[in-house]
Amino acid sequence: MGKKVTVVGAGFYGSTTAQRLAEYDIFETVVITDIVEGKPAGLALDLNQSRPVEGFETKLVGVTTGPNGEGYEAIEGSDVVVITAGLARKPGMSRMDLLETNAKIVRQVSENVAKYAPNAVVIVVSNPLDEMTALAQIATQFPKNRVLGQAGMLDTARFTNFVAEALSVPVKSVRTLTLGSHGDTMVPVPSKSTVNGKPLRDVMPAEQIEELVVKTRNGGAEVVALLKTGSAYYAPSAAAARMAKAVAEDSGDVMPVCAWVDGEYGISGVYLGVEAEIGAEGVKRVVETELDADELAALKEAAEAVRAKQGDVASM
Ligand code: APR
Repeated sequence: MGKKVTVVGAGFYGSTTAQRLAEYDIFETVVITDIVEGKPAGLALDLNQSRPVEGFETKLVGVTTGPNGEGYEAIEGSDVVVITAGLARKPGMSRMDLLETNAKIVRQVSENVAKYAPNAVVIVVSNPLDEMTALAQIATQFPKNRVLGQAGMLDTARFTNFVAEALSVPVKSVRTLTLGSHGDTMVPVPSKSTVNGKPLRDVMPAEQIEELVVKTRNGGAEVVALLKTGSAYYAPSAAAARMAKAVAEDSGDVMPVCAWVDGEYGISGVYLGVEAEIGAEGVKRVVETELDADELAALKEAAEAVRAKQGDVASM
């Protein structure tokens, strides 16, 4: 049987993710759901009509779901579910301002996912990311490796793009890494960043690296301030779709993701941005890389910051 992926939430993030997943042409079905009447069906209809032009066979199905789980039968048999449901920030808001509203939404969605797609790998993208990922695991009761969050790939992509622009080199020649939280305690890792294989620190002055680190940390807020009506979705959906693809293809690719950390880096019992090998069972293993002392200290600080907040979501 062909692979099936569901995207919950047919807003900007969800619709662009569904489009990317369909255009990969590796799934039999992409299901897109939302609570808004007609919207997911309309998007699916529209996307299906792009099939002859873009040349993909994947079929899209759009379903409106109700407050008591009506419509969720459509997600049955999904190999992967990407949760994008929830409010996006407006200018001036931090991701944490969305905590209570999005916790209600993510809990309700997760309970239905557990009921109708009990074998799925769940990829969470709703914000605040680290907390919503922890909550989705609690609400689904899935094994921790089968629930992960998208943030590191996006933050890394932003950092890489800024470095490539600053040095006027192709993005392909730049490798960067960000770990930690998808927020104030994001941990960009210059020691693991390279340009054409050379350490970033050898080709860029420390002050400029720090400038780009700050720009990366504020990457989402900068987009929100310009859009004014919502948050970023092109780079975020690119990252989430790649993660879903890695799961569907059981690729074993190593990606920076929000994963359950259990002993790596001397940190335990928290969802945190780390590198992990991704496959059919979600996180195959967390990949621990060697960090500088200050980077490791920052990662531990991030772990404690998100641990405190993740404790709060259990009761939300
Ligand atoms: N079930 C399904 N969909 C829901 C639910 C629910 N219980 N509650 C809300 N939604 C839908 C909304 O109807 C809307 O269509 O989620 C969608 C959110 O879309 P947008 O407002 O366009 O937000 P988007 O930019 O897609 O961001 C979604 O991702 O990056 C994060 O912070 C962002 O949490 C936000 C999420």
